[in-house]
Amino acid sequence: MYLGHIPLVVKPMQVAHIPAVASIERESFTMPWPDTAYRHELTQNETAHYYVLGPQRSHPTLADASTWHRLRQMLWFRPGADSDEVWGYAGFWMMVDEAHISTLAVRHDMRQRGLGQCLLLTLLDEARNLETVRATLEVRISNCAAQALYAKYGFEEVGRRKGYYPDNGEDALLLTTPDFSSVAFWNTVDASRSRLLERLGQASVARVLPAN
Ligand SMILES: CC(C)(COP(=O)(O)OP(=O)(O)OC[C@H]1O[C@@H](n2cnc3c(N)ncnc32)[C@H](O)[C@@H]1OP(=O)(O)O)[C@@H](O)C(=O)NCCC(=O)NCCS
Repeated sequence: MYLGHIPLVVKPMQVAHIPAVASIERESFTMPWPDTAYRHELTQNETAHYYVLGPQRSHPTLADASTWHRLRQMLWFRPGADSDEVWGYAGFWMMVDEAHISTLAVRHDMRQRGLGQCLLLTLLDEARNLETVRATLEVRISNCAAQALYAKYGFEEVGRRKGYYPDNGEDALLLTTPDFSSVAFWNTVDASRSRLLERLGQASVARVLPAN
């Protein structure tokens, strides 16, 4: 997948990515997880599935990029074919038969370019591949950007956790996808996926380059 002229890669998060992930974490959340939490997730938590997204600096030719599945094959990590730069990350826990999205963040200067959607699509596809029945998550009631992202991918509010966040006592909205057996749900996802691929393919170089 390309962001303008820059091909993107999504790959499993590794311990070596933690400093870059922690930097994004600190600018993204008022209660950031410490580096040790990510180390624990990657090395101890067998239910955890984490991914990073970044630029792929040398890449195969995408002669026919017509379907997501072909793109996904090309997106996945090839040893030596990309940099370790991290523009965003996301993950979920396998909780019995549900995928509970534990985090999702995009580097501040790379937001609103479709990368959050790339990460969310990765989580949904991976969760389905692992035969979970749905995806769930909590989001701050004030986090309109994230809520808009999740709504675009078919998440619906199913509850509220009062005073869930200890830093300011804010409520959490509990969101869930419909069951993954729902054809209508995947139609919604795939419609958003198609619009995203179109958008990423047409992004201009100026919009793509990081601000710094
Ligand atoms: C939420 C977040 C991951 C979105 O990442 P992103 O790369 O900017 O998202 P995208 O560019 O893929 O945008 C996807 C959709 O999200 C919504 N969105 C993203 N940023 C938005 C904003 N600032 N205001 C309103 N809606 C926004 C839009 O619906 C957008 O679709 P559109 O571009 O067609 O309008 C990013 O803002 C972030 O890292 N926030 C801090 C961490 C966080 O809150 N994580 C979620 C925890 S539950």
